Amino acid sequence: MSEQQPEQIAKGSRYVVAVDGPAGAGKGAICRAVAARFGFSYLDTGSIYRGVALLSLQNGVSDEEELGEVAANMPFEFRAVADGGFRAFLAGNDVSATLREERVGRQASHVAAVPQVRAALLTFQRRYGGDNNIILDGRDTGTVVWPDADLKVFLTASLEERAKRRALELQGKGETVSFHKIRDMMAERDARDESRTHAPLASAKDAHFIDTTLLTLEQSIDSVVKLVDKLVGNRPR
Ligand code: DC
Repeated sequence: MSEQQPEQIAKGSRYVVAVDGPAGAGKGAICRAVAARFGFSYLDTGSIYRGVALLSLQNGVSDEEELGEVAANMPFEFRAVADGGFRAFLAGNDVSATLREERVGRQASHVAAVPQVRAALLTFQRRYGGDNNIILDGRDTGTVVWPDADLKVFLTASLEERAKRRALELQGKGETVSFHKIRDMMAERDARDESRTHAPLASAKDAHFIDTTLLTLEQSIDSVVKLVDKLVGNRPR
């Protein structure tokens, strides 16, 4: 992670699509599908916060300055895979599965509230993808990371529906967590992400708002694909 000031990194002529929303809204699956379909790079910004969270859990770091140092020096790397997805490496070790664990997500929400951590990760996010077209998802990608994104989407769904999806996902991995516990943890995480002082979860004013509560995954993907299609079709590079 570099120390260059984020505002010095220009968007250039590439397309930037910023997708924000709460946990479990379907951002990851939708962005992967869009990346695969249009050949965009995909950046799951939550994974970077999860990387800092994992290191902080492993090394017992909680001091804000130290967390900022951890973020600034994190030996983190993404490697793209064929379906638009990626694998995440910390110091050369594949930590993709560990990063998705609930305890890591919860810790990520804590470390993400630390301004030093957010500042350290901003440059990495703005540099990511080089000159490639990019789709990225998170909580502040359309408000803070790329306020000048070409297309912004705010994806959401009811808390019940998001918790249901997350429970199914965890069940699919053989983890047994009660629906009510997941729902309560999600509500707690939403509240923390929305209420923090620095770059809280928020929809950009110019974002397309999509509620996926009553949509299938295919329908959700389709609604974002249509927006990207319009963008790419309207403004060929
Ligand atoms: O999307 P996710 O569940 O992987 O994100 C984990 C946590 O990281 C989330 O609770 C808040 C934080 N986060 C953030 O603050 N800003 C982002 N752009 C992405 C994630």
